Amino acid sequence: MPLNIVVGITGGIAAYKAVGVVRALVLAGHDVHVVPTEGALRFVGKPTLEAISRNPVHTDLYEGVAEVRHVAIGQAADLIVIAPATANAIAKLAAGLADDLLGNTVLASEAPIVIAPAMHTEMWANAATQANVATLRARGVTVVGPAVGQLTGADSGPGRMEEPEAIVAAALAVVDARVAGDPGRDAPATGDLAGRRVVVTAGGTREPLDPVRFLGNRSSGKQGIALAEAARARGAEVTLIAANLEVADPAGCDIRRVSTALELRDALRAAVAGADVVVMAAAVADYRPAAVSESKIKKDQSDAGLTLELVRNPDILAELGAAPHDGTLLVGFAAETESDADRLLELGRAKRRAKRADLLVVNRVGWHAGFAADDNDVVVIGRDDRIVTEVRGTKSSVAHGIMDVVVSELGTAADGAASTR
Ligand code: C5P
Repeated sequence: MPLNIVVGITGGIAAYKAVGVVRALVLAGHDVHVVPTEGALRFVGKPTLEAISRNPVHTDLYEGVAEVRHVAIGQAADLIVIAPATANAIAKLAAGLADDLLGNTVLASEAPIVIAPAMHTEMWANAATQANVATLRARGVTVVGPAVGQLTGADSGPGRMEEPEAIVAAALAVVDARVAGDPGRDAPATGDLAGRRVVVTAGGTREPLDPVRFLGNRSSGKQGIALAEAARARGAEVTLIAANLEVADPAGCDIRRVSTALELRDALRAAVAGADVVVMAAAVADYRPAAVSESKIKKDQSDAGLTLELVRNPDILAELGAAPHDGTLLVGFAAETESDADRLLELGRAKRRAKRADLLVVNRVGWHAGFAADDNDVVVIGRDDRIVTEVRGTKSSVAHGIMDVVVSELGTAADGAASTR
């Protein structure tokens, strides 16, 4: 169901990225009304916002008085997204000021409000801003970000506006959560994955040695979460199988927590029935200790080393690939340290074949690349070993690039052309 969404844009350099938020909401089928402040219009032009939103853009409180525009826009809204929200805008919202069209729109609306703060780190950390944010949160406003990263100047830290895809995902999830609590309305199912069930595994498994120790890996779960958020933003019903995530849960997903590879396998088996897509982004341990000690393993008094005996874990993706899985698109990942691009691709191709995945996403990892980073650089290999796409950028844009391929593969399958799986 298309929503009437107000996107408020306030005066910060991140205003140019708000164009991406408007565009994503329009492409997802929503009716978007942009309300920029005067400050925002110094960073991004009204014609751009009108062209992208496909609606007239108003900013002046004293225009359109006859149609009582200062309250009409807010009254009609199903959702208000303010991106970027500057420190000043957050202060005004917390105080309930209505000295411009955006302030009036917010006060006149009963719609959920989502804000994406953007400012320099010192301004974000300032006690006044933090108190204002706490006030807004207490009133039920959803705060997305800010992200940690490079700011406008040479500095970096918390304060960067979240990526448009993440803002859109969080905003639509807020509406879904409201609708879920209101049985009188149908959940909005818009986007190119509407009606699809997507299962994503994310994070890294931990294999216990004793009550205090485990064998693990450096996967943070960021890419898997970004994939779950991207699928959700595009209308899918998402089950996230989360293995020891080091980042916040995504909104709007059914989350099943696991720790070991065997637990992940059980959770996946339970979730996979009827799924249109399974994305295996989790780093699953290939081995686990042969025995788990009931008590903490003690140091030997001698200087002798310790030998651990490990046994193989099942290859969960290969099991899914080998079992009948008609109608379920399997997407595997290969994290490799190989530096030669051709060798890396060969490893990916061999892995796709061995595991019988439909798509295999190859990314190079190392001490400083891949796992905990905010950016990623991947190649997606399809059936017939062809490169379907290459995407480089934030993990959110990489996730959307992968979902673009998923959408096109699902379309092909629906046309009856994907019989080679
Ligand atoms: O063989 P490798 O670990 O590189 O394969 C990576 C892909 O296989 C990932 O999609 C990962 O989630 C999956 N995998 C699995 N079970 C394992 C190991 C990896 O499903 N035991």
